[in-house]
Amino acid sequence: MELLEGLLTRRSVRTFTPEPVSRGQVLEILRAGSWAPSGLNNQPWRFAIVFDAAVRGRLAQLTRYGRVIEAAPVCLPVFMDREVGYHEVKDHQSIGACIENLLLAAHAQGLGAVWLGEILKSAAEVREVLGLPANLELMAVVAVGYPKGAVKAPARRKLSELIVKEL
Ligand SMILES: Cc1cc2nc3c(=O)[nH]c(=O)nc-3n(C[C@H](O)[C@H](O)[C@H](O)COP(=O)(O)O)c2cc1C
Repeated sequence: MELLEGLLTRRSVRTFTPEPVSRGQVLEILRAGSWAPSGLNNQPWRFAIVFDAAVRGRLAQLTRYGRVIEAAPVCLPVFMDREVGYHEVKDHQSIGACIENLLLAAHAQGLGAVWLGEILKSAAEVREVLGLPANLELMAVVAVGYPKGAVKAPARRKLSELIVKEL
């Protein structure tokens, strides 16, 4: 898939077929995430991989988007490692770039994915369910699977509204 085409046709996918996603596909997605840019190249992202339906079920209880987590064959909680962070804003920006890479890599493989942020309200509980230490701060959960049905593109503001100055 051509890069710009992939970037423009990526959509948030929230319904999935039961077809499984392989560990190899997941590692390819995470590899793309690991190649995101980061300040000082500090690579503050850390990932969990959750295929297990029972664990996904427990995570699903922690967000109003639980049905997405239950329907996706695999979920990827994304964390920021506070031990390697050096600048609050820049570390968050790096994680954002990483998550976008995850979404695009899923799309490039014919998979669908969605960035779930609402679950951040339950960040401590997610860490507890996964048995992870406190230096890992939840940034998002990315749900991944084969898309069920087509997704309509939500509207975007016109470029003319976004460009605040041109000199
Ligand atoms: C920071 C962030 C948090 C998001 N949280 C959620 C979420 O909790 N649940 C959800 O269904 N979608 C979530 N989304 C996906 C957005 O709703 C989606 O990207 C937006 O509506 C545009 O649609 P598109 O991705 O198909 O272009 C989130 C996206 C971002 C960047």
